[in-house]
Amino acid sequence: MIEWVYIYPWVKTLHVVAVISWMAGMLYMPRLFVYHCTAEVGSKQSETFKIMERRLYRAIMNPAMLVAWVAGLAIAWEQDYFASGWFHGKLAAVVLMTIIHLMLGRYVRDFAADRNTRSHKFYRVINEIPTVLMVAAVIFVIVKPF
Ligand code: HEM
Repeated sequence: MIEWVYIYPWVKTLHVVAVISWMAGMLYMPRLFVYHCTAEVGSKQSETFKIMERRLYRAIMNPAMLVAWVAGLAIAWEQDYFASGWFHGKLAAVVLMTIIHLMLGRYVRDFAADRNTRSHKFYRVINEIPTVLMVAAVIFVIVKPF
């Protein structure tokens, strides 16, 4: 049986790589929506955006989120972080991030069915939320303020 102390840096590496991939999608997807809003329904441009959005969501964001969760929870379990204040803060940030992820999935489906009614201003605002949550998640886990 390999000891946790040897596995830990590898699980953390996996976690950080997954988090980077997840965040790439979380930060880019709303930007795609901003541009998609200006493309006419049925145009070639709009159909191209649909493919980009679907692939980004299914091939990158969904698997990356899953790996980030599994690796993050495995570390928290093995290191006994569940009672720590900073970990509660981190969990709050990542639960909110996951909710935004699911909302983005709904928007992808709406665009795919040509039934988006939200404005580019709406997506510009949505664009800022993952950035704020990402900064909070990193502060909680590195500074560990409480
Ligand atoms: C998806 C759910 C997540 C869970 C359950 C989770 C949990 C954890 C845990 C337990 C650690 C190890 C902390 C330590 O050993 O000191 C960790 C490390 C880390 N997490 Fe997460 N995390 C999640 C998502 C995220 C997200 C969304 C970000 C950034 C946006 C992030 C950024 C980091 C970073 C940068 C580290 C490495 C910190 C270090 O060097 O110790 N994590 N995470």
